Amino acid sequence: MLVGFTAWLLLVPLAVTSFKRSQKRLGQSWKKLHRLVYLVTPLAVLHFTWQVKSDHREPLVYGAAVAALLAARLYTRYSKI
Ligand code: HEM
Repeated sequence: MLVGFTAWLLLVPLAVTSFKRSQKRLGQSWKKLHRLVYLVTPLAVLHFTWQVKSDHREPLVYGAAVAALLAARLYTRYSKI
């Protein structure tokens, strides 16, 4: 539950600044702040995994999806294409 709460807490500033006006006002800091999402998504998957008692297939599917998306993001960020 602590992991879920941490994920939720980290999502609050993102929700509060999810308006065009906040994006304009914060400029580059908005990008930095919203990079928190890369921490929140694995935390959410971990929280889901720990809440499930027996059948871990569903959190595994979400975990695989998050891992694939983060890998794709890293690839586009650091490769030349
Ligand atoms: C204050 C923050 C949070 C608390 C106290 C909390 C607590 C809980 C608890 C007690 C469960 C188990 C429910 C059950 O056994 O039926 C649960 C399940 C779950 N939580 Fe959280 N959570 C929080 C935040 C979050 C956040 C931010 C996310 C996602 C971004 C999230 C995603 C989930 C998911 C996907 C499940 C599994 C639901 C299911 O069993 O179908 N939670 N949470």
